[in-house]
This record gives sequence, C-alpha cells and structure tokens, in this order.
Amino acid sequence: MRARIVAGNWKSNGRQAFVEAYATDLKAALAQKPAGGVTVMVAPPDVYLSALKAALEGAPVELGAQNCSATAEGAYTGEVTAGMLADQGVRYVIIGHSERRSYYGETDEVVRAKLAQAFAAGCVPVLCVGETLEEREAGQAEAVCKRQLSVLEGLVPEGAEVVIAYEPVWAIGTGKTATSEQAQAMHAQLRAALGSLGLPADRIPILYGGSVKADNAASLFAGEDVDGALVGGASLEVESFACIIAALSERT
Ligand code: PGA
Repeated sequence: MRARIVAGNWKSNGRQAFVEAYATDLKAALAQKPAGGVTVMVAPPDVYLSALKAALEGAPVELGAQNCSATAEGAYTGEVTAGMLADQGVRYVIIGHSERRSYYGETDEVVRAKLAQAFAAGCVPVLCVGETLEEREAGQAEAVCKRQLSVLEGLVPEGAEVVIAYEPVWAIGTGKTATSEQAQAMHAQLRAALGSLGLPADRIPILYGGSVKADNAASLFAGEDVDGALVGGASLEVESFACIIAALSERT
C-alpha cells in the first residue's frame, strides 16, 4: 500500500504565538493517531521549525520545509541547506512549488539541483508539478507536468522515498479546484510517467493540491491515484486541516 499523506504548507504565514496555539489545537485534534495509516506533515516557515517541533512533541506529525537550497553548505548568503533542515528534524521538503517557480525564477534545472540536495540529506522531497490555466487551455497540461516530473530521471537513490504533488496553478489559492475526475486523470497519467522514468510508480504517493478544503477533500480523495493532499490556506486553520485528515483516514 502507498503512503497516504496530508501535508500543510503555511507559506509565508505564522508568528510565534500562532505556532504555539496551532500546535496545541493540532495535538488535541490528533489525540487519536489518524486511522488508515495517514501521515500528517506540517511545513512552517524555516524560522519556526524548531519551535513547532518542540510544541508538537509527541504528536503524530512530521515536520516539513517549504524549500531548500540548491547547493550544499558554503558561501551562499541567505540559503538554508537540506542538510541543515534534516539536522533540525525535517523529514519532508517541498520542492518546485509553483510560487517558487513563478516568483523566484526556479527552473527545472534548479528544481533538479534542490531534489539532489534533499536526497543527499536523507529528506523526502515533495516535488510539485502543475500547469497554468493557459497551458491547460492550450491542451498542454499533461506535457507540462511530465516535463516537470522528468527532472527525477536518474536522480532517485535506490530505496529513497519521494512524493509528488500535482498542483494545477489555476487552482492554488483561487478557490477553484480541479474536479475529482480531472485530478484522478492527471494522477493516473503522472503515475504512468513515473513508471516510464524507471521509478516504482505504484509505491510513490501523488498528492493533489490547490484549494483543498474540508468540504471538497472527500470527493478529491475518491480517485484511486489520489494519495492525499498538499494544503495551503486550509492548513492554517486546524479545524479545516483536521477535517481533511479525517476525510483521508475515512477513505476505504
Ligand atoms: P491552497 O495552496 O490550498 O491555498 O490553494 C496549496 C499550495 O499551494 O500548496
């Protein structure tokens, strides 16, 4: 069985007081370990990683980061390396998020370098792929996602874990979600593409992301190739986040 994951991406949100209140509420919501083997991950801004880790002590929550450096340690002002993140207890690193690609000019080449760093540090990369509305309307959705996925070729060490997040750019933070049919169709195509890259496609979780909320999670999770969600906005409210976790736990 593939891992099932609900991952929260805080983006550039949260302060110390928020971290503490959030951890208290999330611990209470997860007093019972989620059923169905669901892994919960939360990725706060890097500066709050250790505070969140301490505040969540004992809770069934994995720590994630939203980005990592494309290089190892050295004279690279402002960069946080995957090795440093691993050292702080980070298990998952989100790489290639569409906001990083569009606002910070991350190319597939940069994404590949970051993936290599994450693997070298022993972190599990969560590689984000997704098309813009323009690309979808031009019939290029599948080709774009496959190109973004192809950076994994020859890069995944034997036995290493990797997670994919399909996040159509037009659905991120917009309130527009892919239909469960659109999500399932793309996930199935991505799984086939992973197989063509020589990867163990059946064992690689593919998460859906883009305006996942408490009220649409269950229908998105109905797709057999949808193994969970990468949640932005709704992960900032523990109540909504917990509903999304419950929806995945309850999936048969
Ligand atoms: P959203 O963000 O849930 O706010 O649309 C998802 C993401 O960007 O990971």
